[in-house]
Amino acid sequence: MISHQSSYRDPESLQLYHQKSWGELFSAWGTGLLRLLPPEVAHDIGLEILKHQLLPAWLQPPPPRTEVGLRVKVPGIGTLKNPIGLAAGFDKNAVAPKGFRQLGFSMIEVGTVTPRAQSGNPKPRLFRYPEQKALINRMGFNNDGASRVAARLKLLRWNHDEVPIGVNCGKNKDTPNQKAVADYLQVVETFGDLARYFVINISSPNTPGLRELATPEFVQVLGTELGAGFLPKVWIKIDPDLNKKDFQNLIAAIADVGYQGVILSNTHRVHFPEAGGQSGHPLTAASNTCLEWAYGVHKGHLPVIAAGGILSGIDVVNKIARGASAVQLYTALVYQGPWAVTRILLETAAELKMKGYSSLEEAKFSYYS
Ligand code: FNR
Repeated sequence: MISHQSSYRDPESLQLYHQKSWGELFSAWGTGLLRLLPPEVAHDIGLEILKHQLLPAWLQPPPPRTEVGLRVKVPGIGTLKNPIGLAAGFDKNAVAPKGFRQLGFSMIEVGTVTPRAQSGNPKPRLFRYPEQKALINRMGFNNDGASRVAARLKLLRWNHDEVPIGVNCGKNKDTPNQKAVADYLQVVETFGDLARYFVINISSPNTPGLRELATPEFVQVLGTELGAGFLPKVWIKIDPDLNKKDFQNLIAAIADVGYQGVILSNTHRVHFPEAGGQSGHPLTAASNTCLEWAYGVHKGHLPVIAAGGILSGIDVVNKIARGASAVQLYTALVYQGPWAVTRILLETAAELKMKGYSSLEEAKFSYYS
């Protein structure tokens, strides 16, 4: 529930406040009920609801704020009506883009998709830590495979100018690292024009050996294979566990090769209380550090999309201030439910006002000045 701060007192915010008191309460109940179920069952039910657009009217968020100050420009992707995109992993198989659009997301990343379908790791493989606003997952790229997911996207006849869809690409678990380039290429070529952008995932902690691909040599070889036709559409998603020197060498190589940009970051690898990738609030600081390290190399010339522990408007502004063009979230949706985007945007507008900025574009890079 929001407080009556002066920055909420414009008419649009007040109207939203009154809707929020009931709507958000119901949303919290709905999300709370889902959380009584095992995490992956709750996820699958939530996805089914979004797929068939069955969200009851009383759980639907009001349309998110659309003021010009919340618009952001993302090179190679377009102008987004707000800065909040859906992070990879929630809609791995592109079953519910319409549902996510309805929740207010301004861009949607599907996948990770691998060339061939695979079932992922044995269950249980997703764990909640509500007190920390965190998750640990070791899903292991469970997905339907590139051709089925591409066929699904094709059927959608999606308007990327309204809400761009990107495809996050991975390699199959049984593909040795020496042949990984071919897997990534195959996924990119299978989707072709069906995606507005692509993300090369060399950062999941749950495919053995995958993170060994996070080297200047690998991004150079892959870049040569992708060629000038694809490179401006391709982003590289990096993990937050590299040391500063390796991280910055990788960023420099990515910029040199001519990729469009980087996504910072994937989950943090943990071994306790469960093995897997940790997301949510404990990741906020580490992924902020990634943004700062990247800026140290590119000084604003390499586009960045931020992910990792974005649960509030303050988190959004912190990422943009550190140089992100836009942000993505996953864990906030699990804990805040269908109102997450509407609510975080309301907070973002208030945070901007409080800091004296008229737009997110104005706040960009402000951390460094
Ligand atoms: C993920 N994430 C992820 N990332 C990716 O590139 N490919 C994937 O398939 C997945 N799968 C996935 C599953 C689950 C259950 C979670 C929680 C996360 C990582 C995700 O896209 C994002 O980078 C991190 O979760 C950090 O953002 P949040 O969750 O802190 O907002």
